Amino acid sequence: MAANGSGNGAVPAVNGRAYPLEDHTCDVVVVGAGGAGLRAVVGCSEAGLRTVCLTKVFPTRSHTVAAQGGISAALGNMGPDDWRWHMYDTVKGSDWLGDQDAIEYLCRNAPAAVYELEHWGVPFSRTEEGKIYQRPFGGMTTNYGQGIAQRTCAAADRTGHAMLHTLYGAALKHSAEFYVEYFVLDLIMDSEGACRGVVALNLDDGTLHRFRSQMTILATGGYGRAYYSCTGAHTQTGDGNAMVLRAGLPLQDMEFVQFHPTGIYGSGCLITEGSRGEGGYLVNSEGERFMERYAPSAKDLASRDVVSRAMTIEIREGRGVGKSKDHIFLHLDHLDPKILAERLPGISESAKIFAGVDVTKEPIPVLPTVHYNMGGIATNYHGEVLVKKDGNPDHVVPGLMALGEAACVSVHGANRLGSNSLIDLVVFGRAAALRCADVLEAGANQPTLAKDAGDFALARLDRFRNASGSTPTSELRTNMQRVMQNNCAVFRTGEVLSEGVKLIDEVLASAADVKVSDRSLIWNTDLVETLEFDNLIAQAVVTMNSAANRTESRGAHAREDFPDRDDKQWMKHTQAWLDPETRKVTIDYRPVHTYTMTNEISYIEPKARVY
Ligand code: FUM
Repeated sequence: MAANGSGNGAVPAVNGRAYPLEDHTCDVVVVGAGGAGLRAVVGCSEAGLRTVCLTKVFPTRSHTVAAQGGISAALGNMGPDDWRWHMYDTVKGSDWLGDQDAIEYLCRNAPAAVYELEHWGVPFSRTEEGKIYQRPFGGMTTNYGQGIAQRTCAAADRTGHAMLHTLYGAALKHSAEFYVEYFVLDLIMDSEGACRGVVALNLDDGTLHRFRSQMTILATGGYGRAYYSCTGAHTQTGDGNAMVLRAGLPLQDMEFVQFHPTGIYGSGCLITEGSRGEGGYLVNSEGERFMERYAPSAKDLASRDVVSRAMTIEIREGRGVGKSKDHIFLHLDHLDPKILAERLPGISESAKIFAGVDVTKEPIPVLPTVHYNMGGIATNYHGEVLVKKDGNPDHVVPGLMALGEAACVSVHGANRLGSNSLIDLVVFGRAAALRCADVLEAGANQPTLAKDAGDFALARLDRFRNASGSTPTSELRTNMQRVMQNNCAVFRTGEVLSEGVKLIDEVLASAADVKVSDRSLIWNTDLVETLEFDNLIAQAVVTMNSAANRTESRGAHAREDFPDRDDKQWMKHTQAWLDPETRKVTIDYRPVHTYTMTNEISYIEPKARVY
């Protein structure tokens, strides 16, 4: 494992400390202020730990704000429900790649997590009796697949917005210290492989900071922006994932990239699955509700991988709509306009702005669009980062945790069910804080940092600041996004993926010629976008290689040349390293946890996955 604190030869440019560092010490540093980061901040500060939160955007602009349809929990407000049914659906949704101990933890703790949010003030939509309103979502069933569950707790179609603002309010009640518009550059790893904190750039004044901490929690979100079209914000550059790769640690299950069935054609803007939960349906150019053929029971509410594949097949076989027959229609125009106004106001507005469509009268043009990364930093259900080491598949990396979309716990396995991400944020945000409260002592002495700790991050910054090649970052980014979009899409083949490996390596190599136009450290968007591109390309490379290596189909990884799931060979997590010097990928595998957390529930045996 590479240590980036000392002795790696990458530091001479800054040994004289051309970049003065301001030092800070705290118990916990949380990187990212989305739902997971903020829930961890609340828990750690409640436990009396000195907690610092570093965030590159103002907390309420974190991407959780854009989550629409809701948060899953078996409350049973709209009919019978049970967390065990939720667990069954999540295991099945994951195509048996999820770790069942972690899935049990998630589903068992989900109802309490939603009530906690309610008590903190999330303005959930209500039933006639005043209970939290719950809507159907894809793959969520009653009685182990027998019926359709209404399990997704909603605040109209702005659930993430409501949650994020409430969580930020809760965080402000405590003594956590927020450093807003601080862009974290890298982890500080010691020579023993433990994380000792991070180095960050204050975007506002260009100062550099070293945060020493007993625990570093990465809650930096996904890397959807490695693709050309995605539902995520431009800030979704997977910064924490890339820091982990640079620290010589692997990323897990990166081949599993979720395409949401209903991104608006052209803009990629999200139209919530909740719109199908409220009765919306997809049609092809023949006016056919084609999902009835692909998923006879669940139809439009099959899981996302299934619906996205069905849409792609319809388009490929010439039944797409529009002039170029390259998209699908989502109908909501049969629904009561009062329901649309009350439960789906946000997407009604988005459809108007981004597609010029009045949803009460016309269908919305939609297309499967990159939405979520099931892969990320491997953790257990306490949020502790895991790596396969010395024969131990679950070795815990000291001082480092990961949460939310940055993490791969793995509760989503090969395919996440809609509304399971918001619940993942708060359940595991709380779990990580509980773990910190257990294992850390507030104000405990911390080892002195090596003299050159952080120089690795400064050398990288210096390199990009002085990048005087001839290719603008925007061109490199577009090249990367096109390769990912074309060669690592809904359907894959060995041939397309091998070409993808070659093409993405070429983009990586061409990045040596990057040109950054301005050397300033203050609000230098070109520099920040270059650092973000460097983060994205590392993840794109491991994603393509991980996908090329997995010769089976499972969840969101659909190989046309290997159409079946192969549990004998492939029920295992991919771990992919990117050598920081040679930038070559190494792949290994660690076993899926085929056991539950308690003995109150048995392991759910793999079977065919039909909806
Ligand atoms: O469709 C949606 O509202 C997205 C939800 C999710 O990704 O969980």
